[in-house]
Amino acid sequence: MKRSMQDLENFTADFRELETVMDGVDFKRPPAVASAPTVGVNDGIFAAAERALECGQSLCWVLDADDRVVGEVTVQSVREAVKSGAYRAALRAADLMREPVQVVRDGQASDLPAVVELDADGRIAAFKLNPLAEFLPVAEPDLSGAEFRNLADAYLSTWISSTGEYIRSFESRFAAWNGMKHGVAVSNGTVSLHLALAALGVGPGDEVIVPDLTFAATINTVMHVGATPVIVDVDPETWCMSAELFAAAITPRTRAVIPVHVFGRPAPMTEIAAVARAHGIYVIEDCAEAHGARYDGKMVGEFSDIASYSFFANKIMTTGEGGICLTNNLEIAERLRMLRDHGMNPARRYWHDEAGFNFRMTNMQAAVGCAQLDRIDTFLSDRQGVMDLYRPALEGIPGVTLPTALPDRYQPVTWFACALVPADKRAALIAACKAESIDLRPFFNGLSAMPAYRRHARPCPVSYELSQTGVNLPTSRRVDAEVVAKIASIFRSVLDA
Ligand SMILES: Cc1ncc(COP(=O)(O)O)c(C=O)c1O
Repeated sequence: MKRSMQDLENFTADFRELETVMDGVDFKRPPAVASAPTVGVNDGIFAAAERALECGQSLCWVLDADDRVVGEVTVQSVREAVKSGAYRAALRAADLMREPVQVVRDGQASDLPAVVELDADGRIAAFKLNPLAEFLPVAEPDLSGAEFRNLADAYLSTWISSTGEYIRSFESRFAAWNGMKHGVAVSNGTVSLHLALAALGVGPGDEVIVPDLTFAATINTVMHVGATPVIVDVDPETWCMSAELFAAAITPRTRAVIPVHVFGRPAPMTEIAAVARAHGIYVIEDCAEAHGARYDGKMVGEFSDIASYSFFANKIMTTGEGGICLTNNLEIAERLRMLRDHGMNPARRYWHDEAGFNFRMTNMQAAVGCAQLDRIDTFLSDRQGVMDLYRPALEGIPGVTLPTALPDRYQPVTWFACALVPADKRAALIAACKAESIDLRPFFNGLSAMPAYRRHARPCPVSYELSQTGVNLPTSRRVDAEVVAKIASIFRSVLDA
């Protein structure tokens, strides 16, 4: 049959579509090679470093032109080459590789953190991770995307302080991702709360309502601006402040409220914002632990005068240290910027309208943030996937309670996977996990329980109970079904005793 020109055009269009769908898939390689981090002998050492970060084990395998494993490159070896200056000689993976030691043949067992299994020809037949071969922390940053490239780019641009393309891009992209108009990036999630309070003019004589169950930065910053914190208990289902608890704590001096979306669980913001509006109270949402959580279909942060985020390395996305204030109000955004930049008048250099702060984020932090933002949806689904593994494995164990599933209006995210366990067994459980190189952390202490906040303490029985019984479980991408099974068996042995 003769092919018409139309056939040819259709074929080309189909092929293009296939190419787009399959973008990034390497057809030449069998699946085991595609999933194991590998580079070619002639690839550069920075390509090897990027690949090595991918599996969370800081190592990649080097393949010859026939896909045979000829060596391994570790992140440590790249670091040494960078530190010593050896990298200046345009090194290739082949120049840094060592003999392949993290390999097994014929399905042998291995307790190495990551291994590839080789076939008879020396090609990769399987790739295995053994996350429990080394200490497993509750959180690990995933820096295996474009973070390294962006960071090097920001560095080489010499815009290493707080001006630069990455800062501008990060501020506008993160704000847009959160459905907000303005972003003001800062050095961490503590100063973002401090800046928010200062920008809204909260100070001595004002009261600010905060939940008892939170990281201390929430209350510390209220005290740093000279205001009086008013602590309220949390709701037993959401673990967050409720509108009722907030309303009951309002006095004529209440100036602001800081709901905290703790461990990724959103506070009921429609109701809290309505109470705040009715009383002329500012809302500052502390979203440090809840990037991407929603309530009533809206992202957390969207309900506030100013939303505050942290990008510390254990957060859902990171910039190393870092934070941001988001707002929809241009006037507030300008004030945040001015106060963040020493209180300097933006139109008049070295003229200070107010005694401001230097709370700025660097362009290098923002460079990392831009790369993280590219993958935030993956981070969120990975974390959710980890929680989905824990739930069935831990649910039936006597004494263990998992976070209550919330009504549809709430769309929590997983920051840390959490479980509640009997208070009198928690220390033994943490110790048993530590003995197996697994990090298990107790929840934050309730603010009212700590001497630093004694003057502001209130009875907070729900928060107290949670703080005595809660544990954070490892939530990094290294957590797989085997890790979860191991943790479940430790839980069973300690809790049944
Ligand atoms: C609820 C909450 N608020 C504020 C902060 C402070 O953020 P950063 O550590 O970036 O200063 C944190 C960080 O752990 C947090 O969990």
